[in-house]
Amino acid sequence: MAQNEQYLIDVEDTDVSDDVSAENRAAVVGMPTAEARGTGPRHAVKDRAARQFDKWAHSYDRSIVQHLLFQPSYQLFLEELYRWRKDIAEPFDLLDIGCGTGTWTAMVAGSEMNSRLVMGLDYAWSMCKVAHAKAETIGAGAPEFLQGDSEHLPFADQSFDAVTCSNSLHHYPHQQETIHEMYRVLRPGGRLMLIDGFRDNAIGWTLFDVFITKAESTPEAKVYHVPWTEMREMFEKAGFRKVTQRKQGIWVPIMITIGVV
Ligand SMILES: C[S@@+](CC[C@H](N)C(=O)[O-])C[C@H]1O[C@@H](n2cnc3c(N)ncnc32)[C@H](O)[C@@H]1O
Repeated sequence: MAQNEQYLIDVEDTDVSDDVSAENRAAVVGMPTAEARGTGPRHAVKDRAARQFDKWAHSYDRSIVQHLLFQPSYQLFLEELYRWRKDIAEPFDLLDIGCGTGTWTAMVAGSEMNSRLVMGLDYAWSMCKVAHAKAETIGAGAPEFLQGDSEHLPFADQSFDAVTCSNSLHHYPHQQETIHEMYRVLRPGGRLMLIDGFRDNAIGWTLFDVFITKAESTPEAKVYHVPWTEMREMFEKAGFRKVTQRKQGIWVPIMITIGVV
């Protein structure tokens, strides 16, 4: 079994209710409602994403895209996080934004790395719920989840050592503002690690700019994969220093951008 496959669950039999009323949210997961935690103003792109991922949550972990795109992304995060933290004794707090079904957060919490708080945040309620069900199998130190909006993070300044975000930024209508938010919640010396589709060569452009953009957009709600240089500029504009970027994969190319506070 690949290192991260143990965290993929078949949720067909779990109770992923379609009842997304505030009472149900609070009652089922025992966490404050999105409204209470500061989910920001609605927007066509966000509404579209929430509908898409609420629907997909049930089968997300069994999707072919897991193998092609999501698992390689978690693996890349794992390598980068391990390389950074391996010689640092202090525990770290990590926030994963657009956490989906929580596989990456489960990997961190279940690893030998010295994590303290591992928190996932996602706009789609059903994704949070699947993530929560998965976390329950971990026991002590399990990740926690919040439904919320990446553009309006319900956390105080300097709350985390690491912020991660994979395959989610292209759904955000205000990407620069969101990267500012990520910067705000990081402590000095903290890192943002962000992965999204690499669309700066012919294969990446066809896959992400043509197929995925077409599949995930409507005329009023268009997703946008940020090009390599623009991503770097966005990080620098938000205040990140030592920005590094790396591309990985041939047929499904992804890029990771890392910035230090
Ligand atoms: C393709 S999934 C990626 C999930 C996970 N990071 C992974 O790599 O498997 C994109 C996720 O971003 C979430 N998302 C979209 N817009 C969001 C927003 N404004 N705030 C937080 N999460 C959002 C979606 O609900 C979905 O779970």
